[in-house]
Amino acid sequence: MPYDDWAMLCANCHEENTLIVGTDHDLQAMVPAEQNINQETTEQAGVCSTCHLVHNAKVKGLWARETGASDNQNEAFCKSCHAKRKVASNKVLYGPSHPMGKRIADARATLKNEVYRFYDRVLDGEASQTELPLFSKKGNRSINGVIACSTCHNVHRWNPVRRIAGGGQNIEGDGGSSFLRKATLTDSGLCAICHTQKALVVNTGHDLSITAPQERNILGKNVAQSGVCSACHIAHGAREDSYLLWARHPNDDNDLRQEQLCLSCHAIGTDVASKTVKHYSHPEDAPVVQLVRPGQPDYAPVYDKEGRKVREPLNNYL
Ligand code: HEC
Ligand code: HEC
Ligand code: HEC
Ligand code: HEC
Ligand code: HEC
Ligand code: HEC
Ligand code: HEC
Repeated sequence: MPYDDWAMLCANCHEENTLIVGTDHDLQAMVPAEQNINQETTEQAGVCSTCHLVHNAKVKGLWARETGASDNQNEAFCKSCHAKRKVASNKVLYGPSHPMGKRIADARATLKNEVYRFYDRVLDGEASQTELPLFSKKGNRSINGVIACSTCHNVHRWNPVRRIAGGGQNIEGDGGSSFLRKATLTDSGLCAICHTQKALVVNTGHDLSITAPQERNILGKNVAQSGVCSACHIAHGAREDSYLLWARHPNDDNDLRQEQLCLSCHAIGTDVASKTVKHYSHPEDAPVVQLVRPGQPDYAPVYDKEGRKVREPLNNYL
């Protein structure tokens, strides 16, 4: 039986999953010699068999491979291949990635309000699942689960906008493909599902598709390739210290982490923003007694030297 006929067998019940045919995840097309734990190639056992066994599966999810190292089963699935010396070793993630292994409900205080809206449709009884799936440690989908690789990615579908199978070529992905569950082009819709308030950046001076479309981040990507947030934050390959998943070279002339960020564009010599700052005018080191909490209407954050928003009234610091 030809391998894509196997997919048709599963298509009756799992139609969307069969869009995997001809994508980077169709190993018959990409790496034909690769075998699963039963020593079957994809040609012999079908496009799904690279990752799922219908019988004799070792672990949850009918998994057909040795899993990689992770305390979250979902990530361990990806790392069966996306790891050194494995079949997708040239697409191993380097550098810090977006926080994972974290329940949305445990987001830090300053983000709680915006990310909580993720549960709105569930709480209103309009949906039984959140818009993006969360996963338990064992790899099951669960509303109380954590962010994992498959929260943002659907391994079975290359293009979140067009419902089409792949063309059998190894393609370099961008924010409009890459097996994402929602595109980041160009409004970073994927990120805005959780970071609802950050989406307000679209169409402002900080939407670089308008003010500086040619400008590239540390991965060499511009906003047209990776979405509006990517001018400042990236999901993978952020700067080493991982602070805010920063996507640019911070300006080291300043010892306040927060300001280093702004000055990575608003300083003479960066050639990004036309409005540059030479002398800081407003007093900065003054402690502020903060009585308004995150989420309240008049909240204006103050920061410590490490650049973290200080949540409590600052009396302790006085
Ligand atoms: C007659 C319908 C039907 C067909 C045909 C079918 N499945 Fe399923 N499959 C199901 C149902 C129902 C579930 C359970 C879904 C659930 O738990 O929500 C399932 C679950 C799965 C799961 C998830 C298992 C888990 O533990 O999370 C995988 C993987 C899967 N099927 C793969 C396949 C593959 C590969 C084929 C083709 C060889 C296939 N299925 C054919 C109905 C079908
Ligand atoms: C490259 C590896 C890979 C291949 C090939 C693959 N899958 Fe999956 N599949 C996964 C992973 C990882 C998960 C768990 C993450 C998730 O739930 O999205 C999964 C989950 C599933 C699920 C349960 C979640 C859901 O989407 O409903 C079904 C059903 C499924 N696969 C069916 C299939 C079918 C049918 C094929 C072949 C047409 C296939 N898969 C090919 C990796 C793969
Ligand atoms: C069976 C092995 C296998 C598994 C399991 C697997 N992948 Fe892949 N993946 C590949 C291969 C092979 C490629 C193509 C790599 C290349 O471009 O050379 C690929 C490509 C990708 C790409 C596109 C990279 C690009 O070219 O832009 C993404 C994104 C991706 N995988 C994410 C995932 C995620 C997330 C998981 C787990 C949920 C996963 N993969 C599980 C084998 C796998
Ligand atoms: C918060 C969302 C998010 C999570 C969680 C996430 N990714 Fe991604 N990933 C992205 C986005 C967005 C891109 C596309 C970046 C671009 O090209 O603009 C991407 C791209 C990739 C790529 C292609 C990178 C390249 O160099 O071409 C791979 C491989 C990948 N992800 C694997 C994973 C794996 C494995 C995990 C879990 C360990 C994971 N991702 C978790 C959002 C996420
Ligand atoms: C499923 C929901 C979800 C999605 C989708 C999502 N995020 Fe997040 N993000 C979170 C949560 C929850 C946190 C808080 C983690 C914590 O408290 O440590 C967070 C934290 C962050 C942080 C702060 C990281 C740090 O170390 O300070 C940045 C920056 C960020 N996200 C950017 C993005 C971008 C860019 C995207 C799109 C590529 C994205 N997020 C997609 C839920 C999400
Ligand atoms: C022009 C640069 C820029 C763009 C574009 C941008 N951000 Fe930010 N972001 C920042 C800076 C600077 C901070 C730190 C100051 C602050 O918290 O407001 C930040 C902070 C954050 C935080 C952490 C807030 C907290 O309370 O800890 C998250 C999450 C975040 N951004 C997500 C996003 C998302 C999602 C997008 C796209 C919709 C985006 N940002 C677009 C510059 C940017
Ligand atoms: C990715 C680069 C980038 C970063 C980081 C960035 N900006 Fe901007 N900013 C711009 C661009 C581009 C404009 C458009 C106007 C221009 O060219 O000056 C702009 C415009 C502005 C304006 C409006 C100026 C005017 O009068 O039109 C203000 C105010 C501003 N930024 C403040 C900040 C602050 C505060 C931070 C840090 C929290 C920051 N920016 C971080 C690129 C950036």
